[in-house]
Amino acid sequence: MKTLLQINTSLFSSAGQSSRLADGFVTQWTAAHPGAEVIVRDLAANPVPHLTAERFQAFLTKPEERTPAQQAEAGHSDALVEEIKKADAIVLGLPMYNFGVPSTLKAYFDHIARAGLTFRYTANGPEGLLKGKKAYVFATRGGLYAGTPRDTQTQYVRDFLAFIGIDDVEFVYAEGMAMGDAVKNPALEKATQAAQRLARPSELRAAA
Ligand SMILES: Cc1cc2nc3c(=O)[nH]c(=O)nc-3n(C[C@H](O)[C@H](O)[C@H](O)COP(=O)(O)O)c2cc1C
Repeated sequence: MKTLLQINTSLFSSAGQSSRLADGFVTQWTAAHPGAEVIVRDLAANPVPHLTAERFQAFLTKPEERTPAQQAEAGHSDALVEEIKKADAIVLGLPMYNFGVPSTLKAYFDHIARAGLTFRYTANGPEGLLKGKKAYVFATRGGLYAGTPRDTQTQYVRDFLAFIGIDDVEFVYAEGMAMGDAVKNPALEKATQAAQRLARPSELRAAA
């Protein structure tokens, strides 16, 4: 049975444009994968705390040596790691806020970058340990950034996911969300269609 993890990072939870695009993908994907499990992690409703020196120390301390407070802190991170580890597909709703990724996503990434769990250091540098997964990113922006040096999100998210082993990543953009209906509506329509195409099994895509 397949598992899909949907990570919503919009301030507006499931009402966000990025979450709604992601939902469209997930609806199609689940139709193509009957019996699949879908886990929704809403980082606005349940934000992950900022990483602190204490939390980071809890991650580094051996499990049997952790204090009760460290067990709780590392336990939270461990649960997030287990959740993404069991996912075959990861769907990320990614609005742009103030020229970057939502800070809730950064805090989440800070909790799943765990040496020995999601990556390890080797003689050839770091190696990601979450292999064999596919990620889909639904990026919504008020303005136009894709393909320009002002797109601070795409390379960052690609780099982070590759660092933990997820290097098969598709981006779908809906841009110009603040540029009036004449720009916004066709952009949303195009992104919705791209999401639907991506959610279909590859043999159907190839035949189309
Ligand atoms: C707090 C805030 C900051 C934003 N900053 C930017 C920005 O820097 N650049 C941009 O193009 N759009 C910006 N926007 C517009 C959003 O990227 C756009 O509305 C997007 O569709 C929001 O996605 P969501 O509905 O999933 O949250 C901002 C919106 C908000 C609410």
